[in-house]
Amino acid sequence: MQYKQIADAETHEGKALRLRGWIHRTRHSNKLGFIVLRDSSGIIQCVINSDHPKFREAVSLGIESAISLSGKVKKDERAPGGYELAVEEFETIHRAEVFPITKDQSDEFLLDIRHLTVRSQKVTNALKVRSTVFEAIHEYFRKLGYFEVQSPIITPTAGESGSDQFNVKYFDEEAYLAQTWQLYAEAVVLALEKIYCIAPSFRAEKSRTTRHLTEYWHAEVETAWQDLEGLIALAEGLIVHIIKTVIRERKRELEFFEINVKKLQEIKAPFKRITYDEALMILKKRGVETAWGKDLRTLEEREILDEFGNKPVFVTHFPKQIKAFYMPRDPEKPETARCFDLLAPGVGEIIGASERDLDIDEMKKSLTAAGEKVETYDWYFDTRRYGSVPHAGFGLGVERVVQWLTGLEHIRDTIAFPRTLNRFRP
Ligand code: 4AD
Ligand code: MG
Repeated sequence: MQYKQIADAETHEGKALRLRGWIHRTRHSNKLGFIVLRDSSGIIQCVINSDHPKFREAVSLGIESAISLSGKVKKDERAPGGYELAVEEFETIHRAEVFPITKDQSDEFLLDIRHLTVRSQKVTNALKVRSTVFEAIHEYFRKLGYFEVQSPIITPTAGESGSDQFNVKYFDEEAYLAQTWQLYAEAVVLALEKIYCIAPSFRAEKSRTTRHLTEYWHAEVETAWQDLEGLIALAEGLIVHIIKTVIRERKRELEFFEINVKKLQEIKAPFKRITYDEALMILKKRGVETAWGKDLRTLEEREILDEFGNKPVFVTHFPKQIKAFYMPRDPEKPETARCFDLLAPGVGEIIGASERDLDIDEMKKSLTAAGEKVETYDWYFDTRRYGSVPHAGFGLGVERVVQWLTGLEHIRDTIAFPRTLNRFRP
């Protein structure tokens, strides 16, 4: 008999099924052994009778031992997973040592043994949602005719801000880990016009929050001939496509995380749009006074999301002074930049976006004000010297999207091996 997956139990009621996997939980009486088996597709309760020749062997195995078995499937509402298998054949593949994960262990301990914690239902289900989010992003951009283009991870300049860069020794010189793909994308976009990428970005941010990683996966896009309106439509389309795909392909996982799928289905373009100035007015009304020129923190983002029924909200036209050197001023309101952040419930900013400044002198001024070495950007200014055209782009934090869609409390559980302020092991 061929091996099947636990999820196949659904279509094998009353029939025999052959499975292999790991022991998730186990208990027994004198008469019966109950083994909850886990594979990548789910869990199923397997019952072995005490008169089975392998009964002693089976009930003596500890958690995470690897086994293979076969038997008849029956529906059982009370069983975890909804099905039960009556064991006929049974084979031990590997008798595990005493598994170190038991109930009620500290988060820190679980992170120390993350290489084992990844087998938990929480992490497994989050990784499945994550995989589908990656799939949806690729699918969306490919369908729109975008080319996938990679950029270097070792870079000579800051892409975003000098203060949160990771320095690396590049032989005798100082280099940095990429914070963004963007500057290189702005060079290649003048060749391929529509490009995107999903790659790791690195931020040495000293923020100990539930939504910051020091190494995260960044989906970025750059489009020639595009303005802010076009960019907003592109972002809305992407979010709607991700949600649609996750709802279609990750039903079980959304159920596991107790996600209100109906609420997700209600998310349709166009999303609510407000300017930064309007955001400040809303905050004032809600008793959270924020001075003009201050960035929105998690607290303020939460208030704004709450004001609009906890659906995604675009905030456009942030003060130029708090935004990156490549964001252009809005001619109608020059103290603001032609940019937006997209906020999502539970996490806040999931996308940072802007049109790109085409004025070399303006950009040099901003870089100098930020204490950057202007000379190292000279190659980048060539993109404004030879056939410069309007273009725009955004970056989306993939883990933040997964965090939103799973409702996970901490971003670290959306990635297999999280890197945070105080942890880069194992
Ligand atoms: O807003 P950011 O810094 O924008 C950029 O890097 C632009 N160069 C993107 C572009 O236009 N091509 O970062 C973009 C997104 C944020 O909105 C957030 O979702 C995510 O990246 N992000 C992080 N995610 C996890 N941990 C961190 N420390 C993050 N920093 C940013
Ligand atoms: Mg940002």
